[in-house]
Amino acid sequence: MNTLRIQLDAVQLKHSNIRSLQAKHVKSPAMRRSTQKTTTMVLSVDTTTDLKAAQRTTLNKSIKLADPIPEAGISRAVELMESGRLFRFDRDADTLDEVSRCEVDIAKYMDFSYAVGMNSCGSAIYLAMKAIGVQPGDKVLSNAFTFTAVPSAIVHAEAEPVYVDCEDNYILDLEDLERKIKSSGAKWLVVSHMRGKVSDMDAITELCAQHGVRFIEDCAHSLGVMWNGTHSGHHGEIACISAQSYKLLNSGEGGFALSDDDDLAAKLIMYTGAYEKLYKNHALRPADEVFERLKAEMIPPNYSMRMTNLTAAIIRPQIETIEYRVNRYNTRYEKVEALLNDLPHITVPKQLEQIRPVCDTIQFNLYDLTPEQVETFLQESAAHGVKLEIFGAAENARNFRNWTFSKVPEDCSKTEAIIGMAVDCRLPAAFDDEDFDVMCQVIKESMEVVTKAASA
Ligand SMILES: Cc1ncc(COP(=O)(O)O)c(C=O)c1O
Repeated sequence: MNTLRIQLDAVQLKHSNIRSLQAKHVKSPAMRRSTQKTTTMVLSVDTTTDLKAAQRTTLNKSIKLADPIPEAGISRAVELMESGRLFRFDRDADTLDEVSRCEVDIAKYMDFSYAVGMNSCGSAIYLAMKAIGVQPGDKVLSNAFTFTAVPSAIVHAEAEPVYVDCEDNYILDLEDLERKIKSSGAKWLVVSHMRGKVSDMDAITELCAQHGVRFIEDCAHSLGVMWNGTHSGHHGEIACISAQSYKLLNSGEGGFALSDDDDLAAKLIMYTGAYEKLYKNHALRPADEVFERLKAEMIPPNYSMRMTNLTAAIIRPQIETIEYRVNRYNTRYEKVEALLNDLPHITVPKQLEQIRPVCDTIQFNLYDLTPEQVETFLQESAAHGVKLEIFGAAENARNFRNWTFSKVPEDCSKTEAIIGMAVDCRLPAAFDDEDFDVMCQVIKESMEVVTKAASA
Protein backbone atom coordinates (compact mmCIF):
# COMPACT_ATOMS: atom_id res chain seq x y z
CA MET A 1 0.00 0.00 0.00
CA ASN A 2 1.31 3.45 -0.93
CA THR A 3 1.21 6.22 1.63
CA LEU A 4 0.52 9.70 0.42
CA ARG A 5 1.62 12.57 2.66
CA ILE A 6 0.10 15.98 2.04
CA GLN A 7 1.66 19.02 3.62
CA LEU A 8 -0.85 21.79 4.19
CA ASP A 9 0.85 24.81 5.67
CA ALA A 10 -2.04 27.20 5.63
CA VAL A 11 -4.33 25.20 7.85
CA GLN A 12 -3.91 22.56 10.49
CA LEU A 13 -6.29 19.70 10.12
CA LYS A 14 -7.75 17.47 12.70
CA HIS A 15 -9.83 14.40 12.19
CA SER A 16 -13.13 16.12 12.86
CA ASN A 17 -12.45 18.68 10.12
CA ILE A 18 -12.08 16.09 7.42
CA ARG A 19 -15.42 15.36 5.81
CA SER A 20 -14.14 12.82 3.32
CA LEU A 21 -11.04 11.56 1.61
CA GLN A 22 -11.68 9.81 -1.71
CA ALA A 23 -9.43 8.31 -4.31
CA LYS A 24 -10.51 8.91 -7.92
CA HIS A 25 -8.87 7.28 -10.89
CA VAL A 26 -8.71 9.73 -13.78
CA LYS A 27 -7.01 9.77 -17.14
CA SER A 28 -5.91 13.08 -18.62
CA PRO A 29 -6.54 13.45 -22.42
CA ALA A 30 -2.81 13.19 -23.01
CA MET A 31 -2.78 9.94 -21.22
CA ARG A 32 -5.80 8.44 -22.99
CA ARG A 33 -3.64 6.19 -25.11
CA SER A 34 -1.51 5.16 -22.20
CA THR A 35 -2.45 2.32 -19.98
CA GLN A 36 -1.21 4.26 -16.96
CA LYS A 37 -3.75 5.73 -14.55
CA THR A 38 -3.36 8.80 -12.35
CA THR A 39 -4.83 8.68 -8.91
CA THR A 40 -6.14 11.95 -7.56
CA MET A 41 -6.90 12.29 -3.86
CA VAL A 42 -9.91 14.46 -3.24
CA LEU A 43 -9.82 15.90 0.23
CA SER A 44 -13.01 17.53 1.39
CA VAL A 45 -12.40 19.80 4.37
CA ASP A 46 -14.96 21.43 6.65
CA THR A 47 -13.68 24.98 6.92
CA THR A 48 -16.65 26.22 8.91
CA THR A 49 -15.41 24.74 12.19
CA ASP A 50 -12.67 26.46 14.11
CA LEU A 51 -9.51 25.00 12.70
CA LYS A 52 -7.53 26.60 15.47
CA ALA A 53 -9.04 23.97 17.71
CA ALA A 54 -6.44 21.65 16.27
CA GLN A 55 -3.77 23.78 17.92
CA ARG A 56 -5.05 23.08 21.43
CA THR A 57 -2.52 22.08 24.04
CA THR A 58 -2.67 18.53 25.36
CA LEU A 59 -1.04 17.04 28.44
CA ASN A 60 0.35 13.62 27.66
CA LYS A 61 1.01 12.44 31.23
CA SER A 62 -1.58 11.23 33.70
CA ILE A 63 -2.22 13.45 36.72
CA LYS A 64 -2.98 10.20 38.58
CA LEU A 65 0.71 9.13 38.46
CA ALA A 66 1.71 7.63 41.80
CA ASP A 67 5.21 8.19 43.18
CA PRO A 68 7.69 5.38 42.45
CA ILE A 69 9.21 3.37 45.33
CA PRO A 70 12.84 4.35 46.09
CA GLU A 71 15.50 1.77 45.21
CA ALA A 72 16.33 1.22 48.91
CA GLY A 73 12.70 0.26 49.59
CA ILE A 74 12.62 -2.15 46.67
CA SER A 75 15.83 -3.96 47.67
CA ARG A 76 14.78 -4.21 51.33
CA ALA A 77 11.38 -5.55 50.27
CA VAL A 78 13.09 -8.17 48.09
CA GLU A 79 15.38 -9.16 51.00
CA LEU A 80 12.36 -9.62 53.25
CA MET A 81 10.52 -11.65 50.65
CA GLU A 82 13.54 -13.90 50.21
CA SER A 83 13.65 -14.46 53.98
CA GLY A 84 9.89 -15.01 54.12
CA ARG A 85 9.70 -12.73 57.17
CA LEU A 86 6.77 -10.59 56.23
CA PHE A 87 4.78 -10.87 59.49
CA ARG A 88 5.86 -8.12 61.89
CA PHE A 89 6.19 -10.52 64.82
CA ASP A 90 8.42 -12.99 62.94
CA ARG A 91 11.91 -11.85 63.86
CA ASP A 92 15.09 -12.84 65.72
CA ALA A 93 14.98 -11.97 69.41
CA ASP A 94 17.82 -9.47 69.09
CA THR A 95 16.71 -7.58 65.97
CA LEU A 96 13.95 -5.11 65.34
CA ASP A 97 11.27 -5.95 62.83
CA GLU A 98 10.79 -3.63 59.86
CA VAL A 99 7.43 -2.30 61.11
CA SER A 100 8.95 -1.28 64.45
CA ARG A 101 11.75 0.52 62.64
CA CYS A 102 9.22 2.30 60.48
CA GLU A 103 7.17 3.29 63.54
CA VAL A 104 10.31 4.76 65.11
CA ASP A 105 11.02 6.74 61.92
CA ILE A 106 7.53 8.17 61.47
CA ALA A 107 7.11 8.97 65.18
CA LYS A 108 10.43 10.81 65.09
CA TYR A 109 9.47 12.75 61.96
CA MET A 110 6.07 13.76 63.38
CA ASP A 111 7.42 14.21 66.91
CA PHE A 112 5.14 11.71 68.69
CA SER A 113 6.07 9.29 71.48
CA TYR A 114 4.24 6.36 69.87
CA ALA A 115 3.31 5.20 66.38
CA VAL A 116 1.38 2.04 65.53
CA GLY A 117 1.55 0.67 61.99
CA MET A 118 -1.70 -0.50 60.44
CA ASN A 119 -3.12 -1.73 57.17
CA SER A 120 -4.81 1.61 56.36
CA CYS A 121 -5.71 5.03 57.68
CA GLY A 122 -9.37 3.96 57.72
CA SER A 123 -8.36 1.25 60.20
CA ALA A 124 -6.36 3.80 62.21
CA ILE A 125 -9.39 6.11 62.49
CA TYR A 126 -11.61 3.20 63.49
CA LEU A 127 -9.20 1.93 66.16
CA ALA A 128 -8.52 5.47 67.39
CA MET A 129 -12.24 5.92 68.04
CA LYS A 130 -12.34 2.56 69.85
CA ALA A 131 -9.31 3.56 71.92
CA ILE A 132 -10.73 6.89 73.08
CA GLY A 133 -13.96 5.17 74.04
CA VAL A 134 -16.57 5.73 71.30
CA GLN A 135 -19.43 3.32 72.00
CA PRO A 136 -22.08 1.87 69.65
CA GLY A 137 -24.87 4.42 69.18
CA ASP A 138 -22.68 7.41 70.10
CA LYS A 139 -22.75 10.50 67.93
CA VAL A 140 -19.45 11.50 66.33
CA LEU A 141 -19.01 14.91 64.72
CA SER A 142 -16.97 15.13 61.53
CA ASN A 143 -16.48 17.14 58.36
CA ALA A 144 -19.19 17.09 55.70
CA PHE A 145 -16.34 17.74 53.28
CA THR A 146 -14.04 14.74 53.40
CA PHE A 147 -13.60 11.30 51.86
CA THR A 148 -16.12 8.52 52.39
CA ALA A 149 -13.55 6.49 54.41
CA VAL A 150 -13.99 8.89 57.34
CA PRO A 151 -17.75 8.57 57.95
CA SER A 152 -17.36 4.89 57.03
CA ALA A 153 -14.93 4.45 59.95
CA ILE A 154 -17.50 6.11 62.23
CA VAL A 155 -20.17 3.71 61.01
CA HIS A 156 -17.68 0.83 61.40
CA ALA A 157 -17.47 1.80 65.07
CA GLU A 158 -21.29 1.49 65.13
CA ALA A 159 -21.54 5.20 65.85
CA GLU A 160 -23.62 7.87 64.12
CA PRO A 161 -21.92 10.60 62.08
CA VAL A 162 -22.98 14.22 62.64
CA TYR A 163 -21.73 16.32 59.74
CA VAL A 164 -20.31 19.82 60.08
CA ASP A 165 -20.27 22.36 57.23
CA CYS A 166 -17.09 23.67 55.64
CA GLU A 167 -15.92 27.12 54.59
CA ASP A 168 -14.91 28.28 51.08
CA ASN A 169 -11.35 27.19 51.87
CA TYR A 170 -12.64 23.69 52.80
CA ILE A 171 -11.92 23.85 56.53
CA LEU A 172 -14.45 23.38 59.33
CA ASP A 173 -17.05 26.12 59.83
CA LEU A 174 -16.60 26.79 63.53
CA GLU A 175 -20.04 28.34 64.00
CA ASP A 176 -21.62 25.24 62.55
CA LEU A 177 -19.36 23.06 64.69
CA GLU A 178 -20.54 24.81 67.85
CA ARG A 179 -24.17 24.68 66.68
CA LYS A 180 -23.92 20.95 65.98
CA ILE A 181 -22.07 20.21 69.24
CA LYS A 182 -24.99 21.82 71.06
CA SER A 183 -27.81 20.39 68.97
CA SER A 184 -26.47 16.81 68.79
CA GLY A 185 -24.96 16.53 72.24
CA ALA A 186 -22.07 14.61 70.61
CA LYS A 187 -19.03 14.06 72.81
CA TRP A 188 -16.65 12.94 70.04
CA LEU A 189 -15.13 14.58 66.99
CA VAL A 190 -13.01 13.30 64.10
CA VAL A 191 -11.44 16.37 62.47
CA SER A 192 -10.50 15.53 58.90
CA HIS A 193 -7.74 17.59 57.30
CA MET A 194 -9.09 16.81 53.87
CA ARG A 195 -6.59 17.61 51.09
CA GLY A 196 -4.22 18.92 53.75
CA LYS A 197 -6.48 21.85 54.65
CA VAL A 198 -6.07 22.16 58.39
CA SER A 199 -8.90 23.88 60.26
CA ASP A 200 -8.35 26.40 63.06
CA MET A 201 -7.07 23.81 65.51
CA ASP A 202 -6.50 26.21 68.41
CA ALA A 203 -10.11 27.37 68.23
CA ILE A 204 -11.38 23.78 67.85
CA THR A 205 -9.36 22.62 70.86
CA GLU A 206 -10.85 25.42 72.94
CA LEU A 207 -14.39 24.77 71.74
CA CYS A 208 -14.08 21.04 72.43
CA ALA A 209 -12.67 21.68 75.91
CA GLN A 210 -15.59 24.02 76.67
CA HIS A 211 -18.15 21.40 75.66
CA GLY A 212 -16.38 18.26 76.90
CA VAL A 213 -15.81 16.91 73.38
CA ARG A 214 -12.82 14.58 72.83
CA PHE A 215 -11.29 14.43 69.40
CA ILE A 216 -8.89 12.67 67.08
CA GLU A 217 -7.37 13.95 63.83
CA ASP A 218 -7.56 12.41 60.38
CA CYS A 219 -4.18 13.45 58.95
CA ALA A 220 -4.44 11.18 55.89
CA HIS A 221 -3.69 14.23 53.73
CA SER A 222 -1.80 16.40 56.18
CA LEU A 223 1.43 14.49 56.72
CA GLY A 224 4.12 17.18 56.78
CA VAL A 225 1.63 20.02 57.28
CA MET A 226 2.65 22.21 60.21
CA TRP A 227 0.47 24.30 62.50
CA ASN A 228 2.58 27.12 63.95
CA GLY A 229 5.66 24.96 63.45
CA THR A 230 4.20 21.77 64.97
CA HIS A 231 3.19 18.74 62.90
CA SER A 232 -0.53 18.35 62.28
CA GLY A 233 -2.20 15.82 64.57
CA HIS A 234 -0.90 17.14 67.90
CA HIS A 235 -4.10 18.92 68.97
CA GLY A 236 -6.22 15.80 69.23
CA GLU A 237 -5.59 12.63 71.24
CA ILE A 238 -4.58 10.48 68.27
CA ALA A 239 -3.37 11.38 64.76
CA CYS A 240 -4.09 9.01 61.87
CA ILE A 241 -2.07 9.01 58.66
CA SER A 242 -2.29 7.08 55.41
CA ALA A 243 0.25 5.41 53.12
CA GLN A 244 -2.25 4.67 50.37
CA SER A 245 -0.78 5.30 46.92
CA TYR A 246 -1.90 8.88 46.31
CA LYS A 247 -0.53 10.17 49.59
CA LEU A 248 2.92 11.47 50.54
CA LEU A 249 3.91 7.93 51.53
CA ASN A 250 3.08 5.29 48.96
CA SER A 251 2.87 1.64 49.97
CA GLY A 252 -0.33 0.94 48.06
CA GLU A 253 -2.14 0.49 51.37
CA GLY A 254 -1.05 1.35 54.89
CA GLY A 255 -1.45 3.76 57.79
CA PHE A 256 -0.37 4.72 61.29
CA ALA A 257 -2.00 5.96 64.47
CA LEU A 258 0.24 8.25 66.51
CA SER A 259 -0.16 9.43 70.09
CA ASP A 260 1.70 10.66 73.16
CA ASP A 261 -0.67 8.90 75.56
CA ASP A 262 0.46 5.63 77.23
CA ASP A 263 -2.97 4.03 77.61
CA LEU A 264 -4.11 4.95 74.11
CA ALA A 265 -0.87 3.63 72.58
CA ALA A 266 -1.16 0.34 74.51
CA LYS A 267 -4.77 -0.12 73.37
CA LEU A 268 -3.90 0.66 69.75
CA ILE A 269 -1.01 -1.83 69.83
CA MET A 270 -3.23 -4.59 71.24
CA TYR A 271 -6.21 -3.78 68.97
CA THR A 272 -4.08 -4.04 65.82
CA GLY A 273 -3.16 -7.59 66.79
CA ALA A 274 -0.40 -7.80 69.44
CA TYR A 275 -1.96 -10.72 71.27
CA GLU A 276 -0.50 -12.50 74.34
CA LYS A 277 2.81 -10.74 75.10
CA LEU A 278 3.54 -9.68 71.52
CA TYR A 279 3.34 -6.04 72.55
CA LYS A 280 6.92 -6.58 73.73
CA ASN A 281 7.97 -6.74 70.06
CA HIS A 282 6.90 -3.15 69.49
CA ALA A 283 9.95 -0.90 69.74
CA LEU A 284 7.82 2.11 70.63
CA ARG A 285 5.57 1.14 73.49
CA PRO A 286 4.63 2.19 77.00
CA ALA A 287 5.79 0.18 80.04
CA ASP A 288 4.66 -3.45 80.37
CA GLU A 289 2.56 -2.49 83.44
CA VAL A 290 0.31 -0.35 81.23
CA PHE A 291 -0.53 -3.34 79.04
CA GLU A 292 -0.98 -5.71 81.97
CA ARG A 293 -3.23 -3.25 83.82
CA LEU A 294 -5.45 -2.84 80.75
CA LYS A 295 -5.53 -6.59 80.16
CA ALA A 296 -6.51 -7.22 83.77
CA GLU A 297 -9.64 -5.09 83.21
CA MET A 298 -10.43 -6.84 79.92
CA ILE A 299 -8.38 -8.65 77.29
CA PRO A 300 -8.88 -6.28 74.35
CA PRO A 301 -10.20 -7.54 71.00
CA ASN A 302 -7.64 -8.34 68.29
CA TYR A 303 -8.93 -6.56 65.19
CA SER A 304 -6.06 -7.87 63.01
CA MET A 305 -5.20 -4.58 61.35
CA ARG A 306 -1.42 -4.84 61.52
CA MET A 307 1.06 -3.50 59.01
CA THR A 308 3.31 -6.02 57.22
CA ASN A 309 7.12 -5.81 57.10
CA LEU A 310 6.88 -5.45 53.34
CA THR A 311 4.76 -2.31 53.62
CA ALA A 312 7.13 -0.86 56.21
CA ALA A 313 10.17 -1.57 54.03
CA ILE A 314 8.61 0.37 51.18
CA ILE A 315 7.63 3.31 53.40
CA ARG A 316 10.87 3.81 55.37
CA PRO A 317 13.05 5.42 52.69
CA GLN A 318 10.14 7.70 51.74
CA ILE A 319 10.03 9.19 55.24
CA GLU A 320 13.61 10.37 54.81
CA THR A 321 12.68 12.46 51.77
CA ILE A 322 9.43 14.04 52.99
CA GLU A 323 10.91 17.46 53.70
CA TYR A 324 12.77 17.58 50.38
CA ARG A 325 9.59 16.64 48.54
CA VAL A 326 7.44 19.10 50.47
CA ASN A 327 9.71 21.97 49.41
CA ARG A 328 9.56 20.82 45.82
CA TYR A 329 5.76 20.45 45.89
CA ASN A 330 5.27 23.84 47.48
CA THR A 331 7.52 25.68 45.02
CA ARG A 332 5.68 24.17 42.09
CA TYR A 333 2.33 24.85 43.70
CA GLU A 334 3.03 28.58 44.02
CA LYS A 335 3.54 28.83 40.28
CA VAL A 336 0.43 26.79 39.44
CA GLU A 337 -1.60 28.77 41.99
CA ALA A 338 -0.54 32.10 40.42
CA LEU A 339 -1.34 30.89 36.90
CA LEU A 340 -4.78 29.62 37.92
CA ASN A 341 -5.63 32.71 39.95
CA ASP A 342 -5.02 34.76 36.79
CA LEU A 343 -7.81 32.95 34.95
CA PRO A 344 -11.42 34.14 34.87
CA HIS A 345 -13.98 32.20 36.95
CA ILE A 346 -11.23 30.51 39.01
CA THR A 347 -10.02 31.26 42.51
CA VAL A 348 -7.59 29.26 44.60
CA PRO A 349 -8.58 29.66 48.28
CA LYS A 350 -5.88 30.61 50.77
CA GLN A 351 -5.08 28.46 53.76
CA LEU A 352 -4.82 29.78 57.30
CA GLU A 353 -1.65 31.74 58.02
CA GLN A 354 -0.64 29.33 60.82
CA ILE A 355 -0.13 26.60 58.21
CA ARG A 356 3.02 25.31 56.52
CA PRO A 357 1.20 23.48 53.72
CA VAL A 358 2.06 20.37 51.74
CA CYS A 359 0.85 21.00 48.22
CA ASP A 360 0.83 17.64 46.47
CA THR A 361 -2.62 18.58 45.14
CA ILE A 362 -4.40 21.81 44.28
CA GLN A 363 -8.04 22.71 44.80
CA PHE A 364 -9.76 25.69 43.24
CA ASN A 365 -13.26 27.10 43.21
CA LEU A 366 -15.15 27.99 40.05
CA TYR A 367 -17.50 30.96 40.21
CA ASP A 368 -20.10 32.66 38.00
CA LEU A 369 -20.50 29.62 35.79
CA THR A 370 -23.63 27.62 35.04
CA PRO A 371 -23.59 23.83 35.62
CA GLU A 372 -23.46 23.39 31.83
CA GLN A 373 -20.42 25.67 31.60
CA VAL A 374 -18.74 23.75 34.40
CA GLU A 375 -19.40 20.55 32.48
CA THR A 376 -17.94 22.00 29.27
CA PHE A 377 -14.87 23.16 31.18
CA LEU A 378 -14.34 19.68 32.66
CA GLN A 379 -14.92 17.94 29.34
CA GLU A 380 -12.54 20.26 27.51
CA SER A 381 -9.83 19.72 30.13
CA ALA A 382 -10.30 15.94 30.14
CA ALA A 383 -10.25 15.80 26.33
CA HIS A 384 -6.86 17.49 26.48
CA GLY A 385 -5.31 15.24 29.10
CA VAL A 386 -6.18 16.98 32.38
CA LYS A 387 -8.85 15.01 34.16
CA LEU A 388 -10.14 17.36 36.83
CA GLU A 389 -12.78 16.32 39.31
CA ILE A 390 -15.56 18.26 41.00
CA PHE A 391 -15.90 17.10 44.61
CA GLY A 392 -19.67 17.42 44.45
CA ALA A 393 -20.03 15.38 41.23
CA ALA A 394 -22.81 12.79 41.15
CA GLU A 395 -20.62 9.76 41.85
CA ASN A 396 -17.76 11.39 43.73
CA ALA A 397 -17.00 9.57 47.01
CA ARG A 398 -16.28 12.99 48.56
CA ASN A 399 -19.84 14.15 47.93
CA PHE A 400 -21.74 13.55 51.18
CA ARG A 401 -24.93 12.84 49.18
CA ASN A 402 -23.27 9.53 48.31
CA TRP A 403 -22.75 8.47 51.93
CA THR A 404 -26.03 6.64 51.98
CA PHE A 405 -24.65 3.91 54.29
CA SER A 406 -25.85 6.16 57.11
CA LYS A 407 -28.19 9.12 57.37
CA VAL A 408 -27.35 11.71 54.70
CA PRO A 409 -27.41 15.19 56.24
CA GLU A 410 -29.92 17.78 55.06
CA ASP A 411 -28.32 20.62 57.01
CA CYS A 412 -25.04 21.00 55.11
CA SER A 413 -26.19 23.27 52.27
CA LYS A 414 -23.09 25.44 52.60
CA THR A 415 -20.82 22.46 51.96
CA GLU A 416 -23.07 21.31 49.14
CA ALA A 417 -22.73 24.68 47.36
CA ILE A 418 -18.95 24.72 47.84
CA ILE A 419 -18.25 21.17 46.66
CA GLY A 420 -20.50 21.76 43.65
CA MET A 421 -17.94 24.26 42.33
CA ALA A 422 -14.71 22.95 43.93
CA VAL A 423 -12.22 21.34 41.58
CA ASP A 424 -9.61 18.79 42.59
CA CYS A 425 -6.31 18.28 40.79
CA ARG A 426 -3.21 16.26 41.70
CA LEU A 427 0.27 17.69 41.22
CA PRO A 428 2.29 14.48 40.77
CA ALA A 429 5.86 14.41 42.03
CA ALA A 430 6.86 12.53 38.89
CA PHE A 431 5.93 15.53 36.71
CA ASP A 432 8.64 17.80 35.32
CA ASP A 433 8.20 21.54 35.89
CA GLU A 434 7.19 22.01 32.24
CA ASP A 435 4.36 19.50 32.65
CA PHE A 436 2.68 21.89 35.08
CA ASP A 437 2.95 24.69 32.50
CA VAL A 438 1.23 22.42 29.99
CA MET A 439 -1.40 21.48 32.59
CA CYS A 440 -2.18 25.14 33.33
CA GLN A 441 -2.30 25.94 29.61
CA VAL A 442 -4.87 23.16 29.08
CA ILE A 443 -6.95 24.59 31.93
CA LYS A 444 -6.63 28.11 30.47
CA GLU A 445 -7.67 27.00 26.98
CA SER A 446 -10.56 24.98 28.39
CA MET A 447 -11.82 28.04 30.23
CA GLU A 448 -11.43 30.08 27.03
CA VAL A 449 -13.78 27.70 25.25
CA VAL A 450 -16.37 28.42 27.96
CA THR A 451 -15.89 32.18 27.97
CA LYS A 452 -15.84 32.46 24.15
CA ALA A 453 -19.05 30.47 23.86
CA ALA A 454 -20.64 32.76 26.48
CA SER A 455 -19.64 35.93 24.64
CA ALA A 456 -20.56 34.61 21.17
C1 LIG B 1 -9.42 12.37 53.97
C2 LIG B 1 -9.16 10.90 54.05
N1 LIG B 1 -9.15 10.31 55.25
C3 LIG B 1 -8.92 8.99 55.38
C4 LIG B 1 -8.68 8.19 54.30
C5 LIG B 1 -8.46 6.73 54.48
O1 LIG B 1 -7.18 6.37 54.09
P1 LIG B 1 -6.85 4.86 53.68
O2 LIG B 1 -7.12 4.74 52.22
O3 LIG B 1 -5.41 4.71 54.02
O4 LIG B 1 -7.73 4.00 54.51
C6 LIG B 1 -8.67 8.77 53.03
C7 LIG B 1 -8.37 7.94 51.85
O5 LIG B 1 -8.05 8.41 50.79
C8 LIG B 1 -8.94 10.14 52.90
O6 LIG B 1 -8.99 10.71 51.69
